[in-house]
Amino acid sequence: MDLRTRYLGLDLAHPIVASASPLSKSLDGIRRLEDAGAAAIVLFSLFEEQIHQENEAFDHLSEFGSESFAESLSYFPAVGQDPVGPDSYLELIRRAREAVAVPLIGSLNGMTDQGWTSFARLIAEAGAHAIELNVFSLPTDPTISARDVEQRTVDVVTEVRRTVAIPVAVKLSPFFSAPGELAARLVAAGADGLALFNRFYQPDFDLERLEVEPSLELSQPSEIRLPLLWIALLHGRVRVSLAATTGVESATEVVKYLLAGADAVMTTSALLRHGVGHLRTLIAGLSEWLERHECDSVAQIRGSMSLRKVANPEAFERANYIRILQSYRSPYQI
Ligand SMILES: Cc1cc2nc3c(=O)[nH]c(=O)nc-3n(C[C@H](O)[C@H](O)[C@H](O)COP(=O)(O)O)c2cc1C
Repeated sequence: MDLRTRYLGLDLAHPIVASASPLSKSLDGIRRLEDAGAAAIVLFSLFEEQIHQENEAFDHLSEFGSESFAESLSYFPAVGQDPVGPDSYLELIRRAREAVAVPLIGSLNGMTDQGWTSFARLIAEAGAHAIELNVFSLPTDPTISARDVEQRTVDVVTEVRRTVAIPVAVKLSPFFSAPGELAARLVAAGADGLALFNRFYQPDFDLERLEVEPSLELSQPSEIRLPLLWIALLHGRVRVSLAATTGVESATEVVKYLLAGADAVMTTSALLRHGVGHLRTLIAGLSEWLERHECDSVAQIRGSMSLRKVANPEAFERANYIRILQSYRSPYQI
């Protein structure tokens, strides 16, 4: 069975990739992902915001120390040595490059123009095979327009593209009015790949303490529908590698994403839920499905149910939505 695929110009043994998560926070974790069969590994994101916060905390501590206890300065490296910068992230990439054979994709969540470009350069110099731009930022200010958010994303890709020679992927949020047009603009700006979609951090309310509380829930397979739709719509219509991310629980979701047109299928929640060994179950399940359907390769099925290839393209459209609503039978007899 030929499971090979290409993502971001990288040759992968099969399409199943470990997406950005704490599973890649250590060299051991990265090794475990490779041993379990990940075709490539996206590292957890380097957050510029966090670096600034840590640097501020460091400056504060250093000042505090210098005023109160001169000797306490010896606990901190001299300012200018970048004590809490991206050093450990870059060192992890360097060491991982020596330790594993699979492609490593660095992930960056920047804040400032300077941050996006300088950290992207450092990630490339450290040896990452590609970089994924985690462009997650919530436009909480109601005066920020949708066009501004899109333009900002395009500008980031343009600048990073100018700065690094490695392939650049963009991990998008699902909340754009016209993802198709944005995808085309990102490709024109130099994106080699799109990872669809990031999952938004959505806080919950604690009704006893009346507090807004951070919450991070693992995904469910039903959540594949939105990325599945957009991968099926974009496949073959925008010249870019497509990675599916969200909702992969079993080989069923992997196969669906490939049929829609994904070049790579990423997973995190299932690995956190079942352990990294679950990668083997996904790979075996994919092989088994292909065999059962008398297919020789992943290439044979990729995109065969995309908008361009499907016999009934209206199935993707609004007319079908109306038909479904009209024929809807409630199980509750309303
Ligand atoms: C605990 C946790 C940490 C994550 N950290 C990152 C991150 O650092 N950067 C990023 O781009 N995505 C991050 N993600 C998102 C995942 O990479 C993935 O896109 C998302 O969980 C959807 O895929 P899944 O349904 O397979 O979990 C994280 C997800 C989880 C659950």
